[in-house]
Amino acid sequence: MSSQSPVRRITVPAFRARKGGEPIVALTAYDVATARLADPHVDLLLVGDSLGMVVYGMDTTLGVTLDMMAAHGAAVVRGSRRALVVIDMPFGSYEQGPAQAFASASRLLAQTGAQAVKLEGGVAMAETIAFLVRRGIPVCAHVGLTPQAVNVLGGFRVQGRDRSGWPIIEADARAVAEAGAFAVVVEGVAEPLARRLTEIVSIPTIGIGASAQCDGQILVTEDMLGLTEHVPSFVRRFADAGSRFDGAFAAYAAAVRDRSFPALEETYAAREDKPKA
Ligand code: KIV
Repeated sequence: MSSQSPVRRITVPAFRARKGGEPIVALTAYDVATARLADPHVDLLLVGDSLGMVVYGMDTTLGVTLDMMAAHGAAVVRGSRRALVVIDMPFGSYEQGPAQAFASASRLLAQTGAQAVKLEGGVAMAETIAFLVRRGIPVCAHVGLTPQAVNVLGGFRVQGRDRSGWPIIEADARAVAEAGAFAVVVEGVAEPLARRLTEIVSIPTIGIGASAQCDGQILVTEDMLGLTEHVPSFVRRFADAGSRFDGAFAAYAAAVRDRSFPALEETYAAREDKPKA
């Protein structure tokens, strides 16, 4: 970042205080270029473990490692100066218990400069969340459709369509808020349940495939830009960047093939030979 652009990030307490206020704007970012472009517009940049699928072409997020998260997290912090940067804890890096979670989370924050971690799970993760928060690690929770549990859920299935399932998800949201999470992502739940979760918890809810009444919204940036092939029905494509890229690649290929690129002004001139004395 240049010396003219001081880093002044939204703090975790300021973010937490946004409950019930102006809607929170959040997007994912995995690299410097995306972080730079999104940073002026968003309150939160999430270095999501969705990078396993979006960047690395994996079928699920289960193969994402701490090393991958650390490398992408550091890039997003370098590319931003205003947004709160939250980094996902990958599958297998925290579920054993609070001590494992602390070792992984502290490594991620130290190596990246991100301000907080996100982890998936409700009641089962409450003890771990409390342990981390008491030791100085802010935690964003994630309930509803938790992609790291894809094999238990039997697929990326919307949760809470059947009202009989609501009490479990309500208990999850209450548990993470009481444990000290500063916000909770509510993913892939029936709209009335997302509204209810927003009413019953004291921390901001950030919806994805949830409800416009959540305290904020998050999308995977590549999905909303139109860069991914298949997107769930809850995604609105705010751009068709895929077509723009395709046009640019085609124009470049044509210009290389007909030798119109590079033009002379796109090359380096040699120094004039000095006349011999
Ligand atoms: O990994 C991710 O990108 C996420 C968001 C979809 C909330 O968890």
